[in-house]
This record gives sequence, C-alpha cells and structure tokens, in this order.
Amino acid sequence: MTASFMEKLIVQGGAPLSGKVNISGSKNSSLPILAATLLTRDHCVIRRVPDLSDTNYMLRILGELGAEVERASGVVSVKAGKVRHTAPYDLVRKMRASICVLGPLTGRLRRCTVSLPGGCVIGDRPVDLHLRGMEALGADVQVDGGDIRITARGGLRGATMNLMGKHGSTVLGTDNVMMAAVLAKGTTVIEGAAAEPEVEDLANFLIKMGARIEGAGTNRIVIEGVRELHGAEHSVIADRIEAGTFLCAGAMIGRGITLNRVNPAHLSVVIASLRQCGFVIEEGSDSLSIKPNKKAKGFDLTTLCYPGFPTDMQAQFCALACVIHDGSSITETIFPQRFMHVAELKRMGADIDLQGASARIRGGTPLKGAPVMASDLRASAALVLAALVAKGKTEIHRLYHIDRGYEHLDEKLAALGARLERLPS
Ligand code: EPZ
Repeated sequence: MTASFMEKLIVQGGAPLSGKVNISGSKNSSLPILAATLLTRDHCVIRRVPDLSDTNYMLRILGELGAEVERASGVVSVKAGKVRHTAPYDLVRKMRASICVLGPLTGRLRRCTVSLPGGCVIGDRPVDLHLRGMEALGADVQVDGGDIRITARGGLRGATMNLMGKHGSTVLGTDNVMMAAVLAKGTTVIEGAAAEPEVEDLANFLIKMGARIEGAGTNRIVIEGVRELHGAEHSVIADRIEAGTFLCAGAMIGRGITLNRVNPAHLSVVIASLRQCGFVIEEGSDSLSIKPNKKAKGFDLTTLCYPGFPTDMQAQFCALACVIHDGSSITETIFPQRFMHVAELKRMGADIDLQGASARIRGGTPLKGAPVMASDLRASAALVLAALVAKGKTEIHRLYHIDRGYEHLDEKLAALGARLERLPS
C-alpha cells in the first residue's frame, strides 16, 4: 500500500509498547534480487518481498523493461523472456536504487542505457565505483545527457578489481559487478567488496540460478563466469534495519516487545551497542526481545561498512539517545550529510549539537509533540520513534518517505499499543 504524497501520521505520545511484531523481508535484499531476475529468460519466484513503494517501483521497472511480473502479497514471480536494454528515465529518477538494473542488463544483453540516478537528501549518490567495475569487465562506458550507456560487444571478460571508495565499499556497486560478472568469460575477483548480508543474500540467489560465486559476505568475492543462468526460487532475508528500528522503539518506551522472524546474526553490532548502554536483550534463533532501562548509559558510535555500525541505524539511535539520561555521540562516515532528522528532533525539544558529521546528544530533556517533516527514509523513522515518547501530539508530514521502506509501520506499532493514525494532510 503506498501512501499519497499528502498523508500525515498523527502520534499521541506516551502509550507504552508491548507484545510481538513480525519483521518483514528486507527491502535492500529484495531490490537487487528482483533486478537479478533479468539475468534469465526463465521464471523466477521471490518470496517475502515487502509491500513498499520502492519494491513496487522495481516491479514497474522490470515490467517496463519487458519482463512479465506478478505479485501476490509477498510472493513475486518474474519471467524476463525478452528484455529491453533501456531503463525508463521517468521511473529510474524516482528511486536511486534502480541503478542495480545496470549489472544484470549488461550481463544479459551486453549493452544498456540507464539514466544517472539523482542525488537525494542524504547526500550526493555517485556511481563512479559501479562504472569502474563495468570498465574493469571490459565494457565501454559513456556518460552523457544524464544517461549511462554501456556496451560490451565482444562480451564481458572476468577481471580482478578493487571497488573500495573514499567512503568505503559500495553495496549496490558490488551487487552490479557481481550480476554482470556471473555471465562474463573467466574469473572475476572483487577486492574491497561490500560484505553486507544483503550482498550475500543476492549471491545466494544467483548461485541457485547456476552462478558460481565464493566469498560473498566477505570483502573478497570470486566469481567464475558461466554461459547462462536458469530460473530459481528464493525467500529474501529479514529486514535487519526494520528490526533495529523496532529494537530502538522497545528500548524507548513500554514494558518490552519481542521481534519475530529476525536473524540476530545480522544485527550483532546493533545488539552489542544496545547491551553496552545497559539494555537487556534476549536472543532466540529467530527472535529478539528488549525493554526500556531507566539507568541506561549513553553511547559513542561511528557508522561503518558492515559488520560495523550501520549508517541506516544512525538516525534511529539519535532518537534513542534523546531518552537516555546521559550524553551520547554518533559520527557518520558513510553519508556525512545524513542528519536531516536533527533539525526536526530539535523542534521536539531534543538537545543535539551537530558539528560536521558528528552529533552530540544530551538526553533526558523531555520531548514535546510538534508538527515535523519526514525527509529521508530513516530520518522519518527516527521522528516516529521520538513521537512515541514525546508529550502530546506529533504530526509527521510527507509520510510517503516511510512507506518507501517500512511495510505497514503504523499498523505494526498500533498492534504494539502505540496511539497513532494516518490521515490525509
Ligand atoms: C545501500 O545504498 C543501501 N540501499 C542504503 O540504504 C545504505 O545506506 C547504503 O547501501 C550503505 O549501507 C540499498 O541497498 C537499496 P553505497 P548504496 O554504494 O549501495 C559512496 C536505506 O535507507 N559511493 O554502499 O547506494 C556513497 O556516496 C538506504 O535503506 C561512491 O563514492 O550505498 C556512500 O558515501 C539509504 N561511489 C558510500 O560510498 C559509488 O560509485 C556507500 O554507498 C558508490 C557509492
């Protein structure tokens, strides 16, 4: 279900949370895995695809590229019998992550034209590392008129390359190179590869399609090219960032909540950070439980590539820091401008001092409800968290940012006891 642009969320703060919540499939796993279905003319079935505007955009892009696409709740079936080589500008410009069709189109068709993704509120979103990888595989890359044009008439050749950039490794860049290299002639070695669980999940899907990949989930991935790939079925991993967001909610207010259908191993640094603050977290094989702790201590964190502290949890931890009666600090090294949430949290009374890419939060000052504006996906989640504890009513405008990446967040929070409702703005 995608919200209209003009919807808002009204939250009455102070309602205690309790009970259980099922975590959805991962948005950041679903997007590249859906793109990977372009690599075969056979039928693919992807399960646990969350119902988000971002995943729905990707389905529209696959359809516009010529694939037959069907979605029945969380199950998506794709048959890319024939595929056009040009990704439609009007769709690609709306979602940066659509850049991940670059690799499969190049791998399958040996050419493609994909519009340069725009930047977004968390900062400039360059793709130079993606293009470095394509060139290393022997493709000719031209960027003009806002389009990336890739041609590899003689096919792609395996190569050794390093995809590390000044802000570390690139998740979608690693995905794109992997999706092109699986059909290249010979061996590809990606040094400085992103090690995120979503990269490993994509590799596991490609291996089910007949690809030969070793080392996914580490910083060195080796791919043996094959002649063609066949259809496969796959269930995407749990969304570790949605899970981390709910862990923050459970730490901030209520009598304790339990998250089900999660993979604790994908959240180890988030769990360790919460435990270091003094929050008690019980870990099951696919569940996590947490409750508030009035004596929790502040934290001092820096965002890093996986397995370091994830940038996608930075805003949510800023909101958590507001309710810890101590000082905390968080430094953002992946997207240094990713602090859209700070000004809005300060409107609610948060005491935050932003110096460059570091935020210092003095927690404990009571938050008060206020009209605030959602901006990027995770900043918006931070505002919802703050609204749950703020005194009085908070109105969060531009709800579509939340619907991009959180499946039914308001309904899941309401089921845990939160008092909120979605209204036209
Ligand atoms: C993925 O984006 C995620 N999106 C982001 O989640 C996440 O924040 C990011 O990885 C980092 O973990 C999806 O998976 C769909 P990057 P991606 O390439 O792959 C720089 C969310 O909230 N860089 O790993 O686009 C870049 O500017 C979203 O769900 C280059 O310099 O991010 C950044 O500073 C937001 N050149 C750093 O690397 C390049 O060619 C990491 O970016 C590519 C990236």
